[in-house]
Amino acid sequence: MNYERFFNSFSMHTEIKLMLYKQYLQNYLLILLNSAYTNTIHIYDLFCGKGETEDGQVGSALISVKQAISSACSYTKSKRIVVHLSDKNKAFCEGLKLKLASIAIPSNIEVSIQCKEFKDEVSNIISRHDHEKNSKVLFFIDPYGYKDTPPETLLDLKQNPNTEIMLFLPVSFIYRFIDSPQSNPTLDKWKTFMSISGRPTDLSIIVDLITSRFSRAGFYSGSFILNNQQNSNKYAIFFVSSNVYGLEKFNETKWAIDPIEGSQMCRNFTGEVIPSIAEEWRLASLDRLSNSIKEHISAKPNKMIDNIELYDAVIRQGFLPRHFNEVWKQNPFLEREFLTSKTKSNYIGYDYTKRVPLVKFWLK
Ligand SMILES: C[S@@+](CC[C@H](N)C(=O)[O-])C[C@H]1O[C@@H](n2cnc3c(N)ncnc32)[C@H](O)[C@@H]1O
Repeated sequence: MNYERFFNSFSMHTEIKLMLYKQYLQNYLLILLNSAYTNTIHIYDLFCGKGETEDGQVGSALISVKQAISSACSYTKSKRIVVHLSDKNKAFCEGLKLKLASIAIPSNIEVSIQCKEFKDEVSNIISRHDHEKNSKVLFFIDPYGYKDTPPETLLDLKQNPNTEIMLFLPVSFIYRFIDSPQSNPTLDKWKTFMSISGRPTDLSIIVDLITSRFSRAGFYSGSFILNNQQNSNKYAIFFVSSNVYGLEKFNETKWAIDPIEGSQMCRNFTGEVIPSIAEEWRLASLDRLSNSIKEHISAKPNKMIDNIELYDAVIRQGFLPRHFNEVWKQNPFLEREFLTSKTKSNYIGYDYTKRVPLVKFWLK
């Protein structure tokens, strides 16, 4: 890949990727700076590039540093934020050092720049955070291809429950070469990870398989599809967390970019969608939510869940509590029993109800 060309000017899907990262990072820092249990926040931008394009579009490295500064400045108690930038390209790292030298960095923020291969950094990172209790770690992993980030490395990074991963992958490349007779060890690892041997009928199946595989490994995971309009290649951002609230924040970010389905960038950015069609897509996606909740409850031995589990199921499906409330308003498709005397709400999604069972739901 010619990375110099990449940094001439970002294409639209790269801008959306960075918008999603910036928005998520802002939410992540807001929560953690207010959390009594967190002393230090680490942000790793592991394929950080050179900071900006020739025409001044801001890349992930400068987004990471500037967001850390602006979030920390609006919060009065100072917690430590460490931004770890790394890239294998020496010239990019040197250029970044020069750019950062002109930015005033508050004393509670540290920025380190390492010129290193990703694979040579992984074990250092894991051991650095192995025994830390009161720190949180976000990895933004933005390679150009999929070969440098095999699934087992991502699972290794995720061993520590205090970590979250945002990974950008070119799913079109995986899809295209899945049936290739040429040997490709990393592609084989991705195929094993997804438990497939041949090419699925649709590329979105690859995205769903990777997302659900991370869920089966015990994590909260989500994804968002990006399209390169020049060459029709598709990419996806995968999010992996140990925390339902982390996935809720990722879902909020997705729905802000795609208010119709919360799943891909093309809705708002490839031209007008006729409003009646947009509404049809939106309702179909809400239908998918109610069907998956019905399936979830049917699979329970006692065919019953409470508001906490309902919230969890809604978030895992890539939706937000407000979507469940909207479906409910149109059709209260579950029976419910209140365990509280205040009976005016479904009690999903309020901060104070996320840990208290207040309603039981079962199928009609
Ligand atoms: C898609 S660009 C990243 C863009 C960057 N995140 C941004 O928003 O500006 C990929 C970057 O990864 C770097 N890179 C490629 N392979 C790498 C590897 N194995 N280890 C570390 N960095 C690598 C390249 O030098 C390039 O800067």
